[in-house]
Amino acid sequence: MSTSNPQTVLRTDRLRVRRATAADAAFIHRLWTSPTVMRYLGYPEGLAISIEEVCRQLADGPDSAFGSRLVVERLSDGLAIGQSKLGTPDADGICEPDIKLDPTHWGRRYGTELWRALIDYAFRHSEARIVQGTPNRENVASVRMQMGAGMIKVGEGVFTEHLGSHPVTVPVPYVRLQITREDWALGTVAEREER
Ligand SMILES: CC(C)(COP(=O)(O)OP(=O)(O)OC[C@H]1O[C@@H](n2cnc3c(N)ncnc32)[C@H](O)[C@@H]1OP(=O)(O)O)[C@@H](O)C(=O)NCCC(=O)NCCS
Repeated sequence: MSTSNPQTVLRTDRLRVRRATAADAAFIHRLWTSPTVMRYLGYPEGLAISIEEVCRQLADGPDSAFGSRLVVERLSDGLAIGQSKLGTPDADGICEPDIKLDPTHWGRRYGTELWRALIDYAFRHSEARIVQGTPNRENVASVRMQMGAGMIKVGEGVFTEHLGSHPVTVPVPYVRLQITREDWALGTVAEREER
């Protein structure tokens, strides 16, 4: 797998994931302010954020694939189709990735392809013990994408911490899904043996 461009974090069959730059601010702003993209994340009217604030967040991000904003490009033509993030593993060794694709490109299994690559990257490039997702229980595409990668349900709850932080926020009923480093390794060995 070639990652010769210093901005490149990973490649899959169809996608390249790279660190975001200031030139991506308008694209990321469009995703974050989109009611369609943010619907299940507690912001049914999109994030109330200015493009200047997006620029500031990009500039302040850590100099690492973990914790910084990432852009997802289609390899065939270099088109930016989404934004992603790999959370820095916390004190319990839990890493939480995130994907926000442009709705124009939903339903083509890009999310599935990318989610698996993010899990793999987290285990290969950090000491994470667990990769975790906390999708909205009603976000069927996200739940299926994550469970399809072998993540299993370990709990559920309702996020309320963000309430009141923006003009329009709603509680997020979530399911907590996890996969351990050991189970991911077992799954990838099984996949290789099936081929
Ligand atoms: C969640 C998201 C990343 C999924 O990406 P995607 O490329 O559209 O998803 P895929 O095409 O890989 O499909 C994943 C699974 O969901 C299913 N699916 C896709 N769209 C669906 C829909 N509208 N309704 C029900 N199921 C759907 C697919 O059939 C697939 O399930 P399967 O493997 O069991 O067949 C994308 O919808 C998105 O960016 N949403 C906005 C942001 C968000 O909610 N992020 C979630 C936090 S990670």
